[in-house]
Amino acid sequence: MTTANQNAYKIAVLSGDAIGPEIMKQAVRVFDVIQAHCDVAFELNYAPFGAHAYFEEGKAFPEATKAVCDDADAILKGPVGLSHEESRKIPVEEQAERGAILPLRARYNTFANFRPIYLSADMAHFSPLKPEIIKDGIDILLIRELVGGLYFGEKERGTNGAGKRYVKEVLEYDEDQIRQVLVVAFEQAMQRKKRLHNIHKSNVLMSSVFWNEILEEVRVDYPEVEVIHLLVDAAATALCLNPGQFDVMVMENMFGDILSDQGGGILGSLGLMPSACMGPEKSYYEPSHGSAPDIAGRNIANPYSMIGSVAMMLEMSFGMKRESALVWDAMKSVFEAGYSTADLSRSSDGIELVSTDRFGDLVMEKLDQLLRQS
Ligand code: IPM
Ligand code: MN
Repeated sequence: MTTANQNAYKIAVLSGDAIGPEIMKQAVRVFDVIQAHCDVAFELNYAPFGAHAYFEEGKAFPEATKAVCDDADAILKGPVGLSHEESRKIPVEEQAERGAILPLRARYNTFANFRPIYLSADMAHFSPLKPEIIKDGIDILLIRELVGGLYFGEKERGTNGAGKRYVKEVLEYDEDQIRQVLVVAFEQAMQRKKRLHNIHKSNVLMSSVFWNEILEEVRVDYPEVEVIHLLVDAAATALCLNPGQFDVMVMENMFGDILSDQGGGILGSLGLMPSACMGPEKSYYEPSHGSAPDIAGRNIANPYSMIGSVAMMLEMSFGMKRESALVWDAMKSVFEAGYSTADLSRSSDGIELVSTDRFGDLVMEKLDQLLRQS
């Protein structure tokens, strides 16, 4: 076994739809910059996924793409989907959400979704919250269960005995599904501030009562972690009024979908939300936002969430903590120097709006410089 083999990684790159390819083009440059400085080799394999895959091949998640993903050490996924009107040209089961994203999550059992809600002090101006609420910035790790609950439960539509049309969707979890994501959350809490907010709705939902019972079993192994219970509706308010109280938060799938978008809201944009979807063997990385068809093709989308997803991959799939930290530092310093993009900011004193490509150039130049120095 040679060192070269140990440090070679295959990455499946699913650029996605609308702004996807624009921000992906910048994000993958990180691999080149790192390769030039470190003893590591990245092999990137591109494959169609999402609405364009459907139009080209008749499937949103084609078999050949599955093979590329199966063969990869990690998957980098851009945002997928089209506008409401365009999506209607695609049969419901092949639309990007049902036809591509959920099958990808199920295929690799990516049960733990890390959605950092992070804003450095220098980026505080992006947030709609008042400076006295943000204080030194926001640093929350929201962990969302990603392969259970309403998203994956049985679905049924029909006409009932009274002749009324009805719908039924099932929220189902078994104890192992809940335990595995809670274990991940406690582990993260141990590495951070040893404070875990458990978000639920046990005053109404039996599934939350059960979730909390499993939590009591899991926490026995983590006596140092302080657990704070919070109802999901109250958590929504608390995120706006006092985000500083949160460090690690854990919750079921649907709650996490909603609260993580609210996380984007308190940062000022979903464009500031990268994420990691962790499975037992393989993980995939994606921005938490959609494909923004309204601004596609204009070279104005900020690539932060896509580049941040690469940073998360470097750390979590390849153990490259230092390189990952430098990617974050490079992006922060570009913002700090006053550069931004039109989707995030308006031009004003101290802010220069640049294109997606130019923002990428600035991040890569800075990353190159930081790698040289360290
Ligand atoms: C997200 C998205 C997805 C979800 C959709 C596109 C299926 O909103 O990753 O948060 O609901 O999980
Ligand atoms: Mn969502």
